[in-house]
Amino acid sequence: ALKTLPRHMISLSDYSAEQIAALVESAAEFKRKTKVEGQTFHPDAPLRGQTVALLFSKRSTRTRVASESSIAYLGGHAMFLGKEDIQLGVNESLRDSAQVISSMVDGIFARVGAHSDITTLAEHSTVPVINALCDENHPTQILADLLTIWEVYGERRPEARNMFDVFRGLRVAWVGDANNIVYEMLAAMPKCGFDMRVCTPAKYPIPEGVRAQAKGDAEKAEVSVEYFTDPLEAVRDADIIVTDTWVSMGQEAEKAQRLRDFQGYQVSREMAEQGGAKKDWTFMHCLPRKPEEVTDEVFYSDRSVVFQEAENRKWTILAAFAALLPKKN
Ligand code: CP
Ligand code: NVA
Repeated sequence: ALKTLPRHMISLSDYSAEQIAALVESAAEFKRKTKVEGQTFHPDAPLRGQTVALLFSKRSTRTRVASESSIAYLGGHAMFLGKEDIQLGVNESLRDSAQVISSMVDGIFARVGAHSDITTLAEHSTVPVINALCDENHPTQILADLLTIWEVYGERRPEARNMFDVFRGLRVAWVGDANNIVYEMLAAMPKCGFDMRVCTPAKYPIPEGVRAQAKGDAEKAEVSVEYFTDPLEAVRDADIIVTDTWVSMGQEAEKAQRLRDFQGYQVSREMAEQGGAKKDWTFMHCLPRKPEEVTDEVFYSDRSVVFQEAENRKWTILAAFAALLPKKN
């Protein structure tokens, strides 16, 4: 399945369940090779002599550290270009920037604002473009989430024969904003066999297009996707409860209003107990975390896998780069 991947990675909505699973398996293998076998360098150095442009128009900790260190492991050169460094869509069109940059590098990993910026880059780039986050998607994040769930629930389900056996029937509840993270979860998780319960305030609905694709994927995979506005209903029987900041990058001016609009949405032990989540529910969050969306009690508890999830950004970004970037001769 790795050999048939689309040229770019804009969203996992363009990838089949088998392609997603192959990337996650490859990430687990890189993790094992590095952490168990002590491998520090890819023996084939598949990116030797190649440069990957990291175009970041927004801040990043995990995605940047994971990408630069992954390129070192693959034997390539990471060229970090922040928004003060280059003319990405400033002083010249994004289309022109895409054409020029791609004429000099071998791959582009880009964190942008509008979704149309990433699709414009991909359209006019002559090299693969991987989305490092835009306002609608975050594919490398959800790959890391799937690896984390596979690790955590693989141990709890020793009878499972493969990744899909581990995922099937797990109930994932989202309690939070209607943002890039939950859109990407809806793009990837139903087709991988999860049941989803998505809770956002009525003022922040999930867009119709995102729902329509999730519905189609869910019907094919015979799983459910349901929408709620009451967190207590949404977390019923949840295996996994996920949230994210209520104020994404670029929404800082709306902060006061958003803190009011998300009252009652803080993930807490009481919410999980009153709503009737499974006793052994797991907490996930893509990070960076702000205090308001989850209590410290949950965030730093044994049921929280957020730091494993953060580390898994490294292994999944490495897998995505290894699969998509090396020049195919
Ligand atoms: N989860 C995530 O993308 O984190 P960064 O913004 O720090 O890269
Ligand atoms: N929703 C957040 C995710 C950060 C990784 C944002 O877009 O800022």
